[in-house]
Amino acid sequence: MYILKAMELTLKGKTAVVTGGTHGIGRAMARRLAACGAHVFIFDIDADDEIDFPCRYVRCDVTNRASIEAAFDVSGVPDALFINAGTGIVKPLEETTREVWDKTISLNLTAAFETLQAAAARMKAAKKPGAIVLTASTNSYDGEENLIAYNATKAGVLGILHTAANELGPYGIRVNSVNPGLIRTRLTQAAFDSPPVIKDYFRAIPMGRGGEPDEVAKAAIFLASDWASYITGATLLVDGGQLCCKFGPWKDTEAEFVEGHWRRLD
Ligand SMILES: NC(=O)c1ccc[n+]([C@@H]2O[C@H](COP(=O)([O-])OP(=O)(O)OC[C@H]3O[C@@H](n4cnc5c(N)ncnc54)[C@H](O)[C@@H]3O)[C@@H](O)[C@H]2O)c1
Repeated sequence: MYILKAMELTLKGKTAVVTGGTHGIGRAMARRLAACGAHVFIFDIDADDEIDFPCRYVRCDVTNRASIEAAFDVSGVPDALFINAGTGIVKPLEETTREVWDKTISLNLTAAFETLQAAAARMKAAKKPGAIVLTASTNSYDGEENLIAYNATKAGVLGILHTAANELGPYGIRVNSVNPGLIRTRLTQAAFDSPPVIKDYFRAIPMGRGGEPDEVAKAAIFLASDWASYITGATLLVDGGQLCCKFGPWKDTEAEFVEGHWRRLD
């Protein structure tokens, strides 16, 4: 007998926190979370008066522990936490100064660790199960040129992910990551604005195009939802297939690059 009912993907009534939720991928996460019924808190250094969905902005510098703790005092204990704030500074190896290195480590790695640590302590004390989703990257696995500090942090995020999933599993707290490829945000807009750059870049992507922030948001929210109830310690690539292939499928003899993406000629 067929008795399984369609289950809605919902976070209705849940408290969801998104770091770096004012712009880009984090903003798309916050918007989707609001659509899924969550009470959304954005922790960010930057405010945006034009945010047009229900959420509460909490000014927070995630590189400062006291600021993180004060922000969680406002949000309360989260059911779902998206550790997403991050940056990438493009510099060749020899030009990556100690300042660039420290700044990148501080935001992408130390702040991710401290946000997770602060939230985990509160979730455990409240005996509240929940889900944490880190924003890692395809660069967690590769050595894209001119991004040595960024690549080191995103590889490091996987260390945080695996250890936190291990230690928090017994408390009913799942920890996973989304690993985006090239996604259109202010961090990457310059590349998207340069057809020769993206033509070449997207040649190596089976889907033949870059990604949109909402495509990462949907994957992240799946990981935070009950639909992923037995998933922890996992990384979910959201990269149009970029990391599954060595050279990519797009050839000039069989395809053309139009309006920002590759299309087969037949
Ligand atoms: N865009 C991509 O192609 C791509 C690919 C892979 C991974 N990522 C990762 O996705 C995450 C979001 O990147 P994005 O592309 O949306 O960038 P973005 O610049 O659009 O957004 C980053 C957000 O973080 C906030 N932020 C910066 N410093 C902060 C601080 N100290 N405290 C609190 N908030 C702070 C910014 O104000 C902004 O809202 C980053 O971790 C990035 O590494 C992006």
